[in-house]
Amino acid sequence: MKPMCGIVGYIGPKQAQNILLEGLRKLEYRGYDSAGLAVYQDGKLKVEKAEGPLSALEERLNGQPLHGEMGIGHTRWATHGKPSDENSHPHVDGKQQFAVVHNGIIENYLELKEELQEKGYAFTSETDTEVIAHLLADLDDGDLVSTVRKAVARMEGAYALAIAHVDEPDKLVAVRLASPLIVGVGDGENFIASDIPAILEHTRDVYVLDDGEMAVLTRDGVELSTTDGKPVSRDLMHVTWDAATAEKGGYEHFMLKEIHEQPKAIRDTLAGRIKDGLVDLSQEISLSAEELKRFDKIHFVACGTAYHAGLIGKSVVEKLARIPVEVDVASEYRYRDPIITPSTLVVVVSQSGETADTLAALREAQKAGAQVLGITNVVGSSVAREADEVLMTWAGPEIAVASTKAYTTQLIAIYLFGLYLARILETRSESELAEATEALLKLPKQAETLLEDPSAIRRFAGDIAQHEDLFFIGRGLDHAVVMEGSLKLKEISYIHSDAYAAGELKHGTLALIEEGIPVIALATQKAVYDKMVSNIIEVKARGAHVLGLGLEGDDELGKSVDEVITIPETLPLLTPVLSVIPLQLLAYYTSTARGLNVDKPRNLAKSVTVE
Ligand code: F6R
Repeated sequence: MKPMCGIVGYIGPKQAQNILLEGLRKLEYRGYDSAGLAVYQDGKLKVEKAEGPLSALEERLNGQPLHGEMGIGHTRWATHGKPSDENSHPHVDGKQQFAVVHNGIIENYLELKEELQEKGYAFTSETDTEVIAHLLADLDDGDLVSTVRKAVARMEGAYALAIAHVDEPDKLVAVRLASPLIVGVGDGENFIASDIPAILEHTRDVYVLDDGEMAVLTRDGVELSTTDGKPVSRDLMHVTWDAATAEKGGYEHFMLKEIHEQPKAIRDTLAGRIKDGLVDLSQEISLSAEELKRFDKIHFVACGTAYHAGLIGKSVVEKLARIPVEVDVASEYRYRDPIITPSTLVVVVSQSGETADTLAALREAQKAGAQVLGITNVVGSSVAREADEVLMTWAGPEIAVASTKAYTTQLIAIYLFGLYLARILETRSESELAEATEALLKLPKQAETLLEDPSAIRRFAGDIAQHEDLFFIGRGLDHAVVMEGSLKLKEISYIHSDAYAAGELKHGTLALIEEGIPVIALATQKAVYDKMVSNIIEVKARGAHVLGLGLEGDDELGKSVDEVITIPETLPLLTPVLSVIPLQLLAYYTSTARGLNVDKPRNLAKSVTVE
C-alpha cells in the first residue's frame, strides 16, 4: 500500500549477501532511507542494518561480511517510526528465530502490539513490522509455513513479506496482500523481490504473486498457495524487458509511471482517514477542537508545484471552513514581513520535506508563535520532524523531477484537512460534508478512467511541440490548475507558456494572441462557465488554436474550441485532481515529442535544499 520499500530474498548455492545487496541496489529507484540484511550463518540468523544509503550498510558489512546461502534484504521508506538503525528491517523476534522484511502497512498493529506486550514480548523499534516477528514467535508451532499462515490470518492491512526461520534454513516464505511481490525462479536457486529489476541479472522467469497468495521457496523449487492453504498453479512469466524498462514498471519514463500511479496514490492518501462517511483526522492532528477554533487565519507556504497545491488550498479552506487564507511562495514569505500571530495556522506543503525555503518559512512561523501543519510525502523529513502537526501524503517515492502524484495527493490532503476543519468548526452541514467525502472517494476510479485513453492529448502534444510559446487560461480553481499545467510544460518541454486568469486577457495579454498560437482553456467550473466561454471566443477571434478541457456531458464547449478533452464530473471544488491529469500528460507527450530528457530536465534538481 503506502510505502514503496524494497524486498529481496535469496536461497541457493551462492553467497546471499552479494545477491541481496545487488538486488537492493536495483530497487534504489523506489526511494529509501535505510537498509538491512539477514543471512543464515552458522546456525543463526545474522542481521546487519543501517540508516542511510546502501553504502552505509556496505561499509558495516565490509568489516564483517555475512557468510551464508540464504537471506533476506530490505530498503526502507519510513512510515511507522523515523529512519534509524533500529527501525530498519529485517526485524526479528526476541530469540532471533524469525527474520521478517515487510513492504506495506499493518493496520491493526497497535492492537497486536498491545496484545503481545501483555504477553511479555519486548519491542525494540517503533515499526509495525516488528509486530510480525513477535506474532510469528507467539504462534510458532514448529512449522514455518503453518506458523506464517496463522500469523497472516491475524494481520490486517496491505503488505508484502519475506520471512526466514532459523530452524528451516532450506526455506524462505513470501506473502503478498496488496503490495507487489514476485518470485524469481532460477536453476538450483530462487529469489523473492518486490520488483523484477532486482533479480533480472539472475533469471527472467518469474511468478507474480496475487493478493492473498504465498510462495514457499527451497533451492530446488517454488510452491504457490493461498495464505489459507489452497494450492495455486500458475504459468511462469518470462520477462523480455531490459533492466531499465523493468525499473519503470514497463513505462518508458518514471514520470509516466508516476502519472499512472495517481489513482493508487490518491486511494492510499484517503485510506484510514474517513470514518462513517466523514473525514476524521483526530488520530493524526493532535490540535483539539478548541485549539482549531482559535485560528483566525491560515497561511499556505510552499514552492513550485506544492505552491500551486496551496493555491487550491486557499479556495478549499475558505469555502469549507470560512477562515481567511493567504498563499505565499516560500522564498518570498519571510522577506515580506508577514503578519503571523499565535492564532495563525501556517500550512507548509512539501513533497520532499527538505526544500530549504519552505523549511525556513516553517521555522520563521514557529518563531513568531504560529502553529505549523506540515503536508509532506517523506516520513522522517525535516518538515515531518519540525512541524507541530503532520499530514502525510502517501504518494510513495516520486523519482521524476516533474512532480505529478505528489501534487494530486497534496490536493487530497488539503481536501481532507478542509473537510475536517469544516466539521469541527461546524461551518458546513453534515450532509454537505458527507456529499463531498463521497465525491472524494470516487476520485481514484475517475482518475483511472481518465488515464485509459491519452490519444487525443498525445495528438495535441504533437502539435504544440512545434511551437515556442503558448497560453493556458482558466477561471477560479481552473486558473490555479493551469498554473500547474504551465509549469509542468515549461520544465520538461522547455516551451515558454504562461497561465492567465481568463478575465485578465483583455487587460494586456490579448495583444500576444496571433494566428495559430496554441491556447489551452479549462472550463470545468460551472459558476464561471459562460464567462470562460466568452474568453475562449475572444482568443479564437484572434486566430488562436484552442484545446478546451471541460466536463463530460458538456456538448457546448466543442462549438467554441478546436479540440475538446473531457474529464469525469465531480464537485467543482474537487475538479483540480482530475483536470490536472490531462495537463500532466500534455507536458509529458510534448517533452517526448521533442525527444527531451523527461525525467531529468536540464538545470533542475528533485530536491532543492539550497536557497
Ligand atoms: C515541479 C516541482 C517543483 C517542486 C518544488 C517544491 O514539478 O517538482 O516545483 O514542487 O521544488 O518541492 P517540494 O514539494 O519537495 O518542497
